[in-house]
Amino acid sequence: MISKSLTDEKSIKSDDNKAVKTEAKDVIHQMDKNPSIYSYAAAEKGKVKVKIKLAEDKIQKIHEICTNFNNEAGELINVLHQTQHTFGYLPAEVQEVIAHCLNVSTAHVYGVVTFYSYFTMIPKGRFPISVCTGTACYVRGAEKVLDEFKKQLGISVGQTSDDGKFSLSCLRCVGACGLAPVILVGEKVYGRVAPDGVKAILDAYKDK
Ligand code: FES
Repeated sequence: MISKSLTDEKSIKSDDNKAVKTEAKDVIHQMDKNPSIYSYAAAEKGKVKVKIKLAEDKIQKIHEICTNFNNEAGELINVLHQTQHTFGYLPAEVQEVIAHCLNVSTAHVYGVVTFYSYFTMIPKGRFPISVCTGTACYVRGAEKVLDEFKKQLGISVGQTSDDGKFSLSCLRCVGACGLAPVILVGEKVYGRVAPDGVKAILDAYKDK
C-alpha cells in the first residue's frame, strides 16, 4: 500500500499534491467534530486516492500525539517516536495520518521511518528480542548468540514469530559493554549471554 501511495504521489504535479493534502487534512479536521467517521477517511483528486483505514480510537490517538507537538513538521521524529511507543510499529496507514496532520508528504514520513533503524513498519512480538551487535558484543560472540536465536525461533532479523510472541532485531551498543554480549527482551537486559543460554532465556517466557 505504501509503495502505491508513493507512486501516486510522484505521478501528480506539486500543486495537485498540495490540494490533495489540504483536502485530506480537512477530512481529519472534520473528524474532530464527528468522531464516528474516524474509522474511514478518503480524499480523491484526479488519479490520487488517499485512504485511511484505522480503528477510530487509533486515529484519535495519532491526532492527539500530533496535537501535543503542535502539528509541526519539525517535530516529525518526536511524533513518530511517540506513535511507535504507543502502537509498537508504524504501518503505512499510520504514516498517512501523521503526514496529513503535520502537512508533509507521505513520502517524507516514509523516508524518515525507513532511514532510522529504530523505526519499524513490522509489528513487533509481545517480547521483542534485541541482540547488541556493537563492537564489544560482536567480538565477544554476539553473532553466534544471534544465530542461536534465529535457529530457536525459526525467524530472521526483522521478523516476528508466527504466534506473535517474539520478534528479533539487532541494535548498536546499549552502554553495557562490560556485560557483553548483551541482549534485551523488551526492557530487560541479559548480560554475558552465550549461545547455550539462549534456550533458557526463551523458556522464561514460555508461559507468559
Ligand atoms: S557493544 Fe554491546 S553493550 Fe556496548
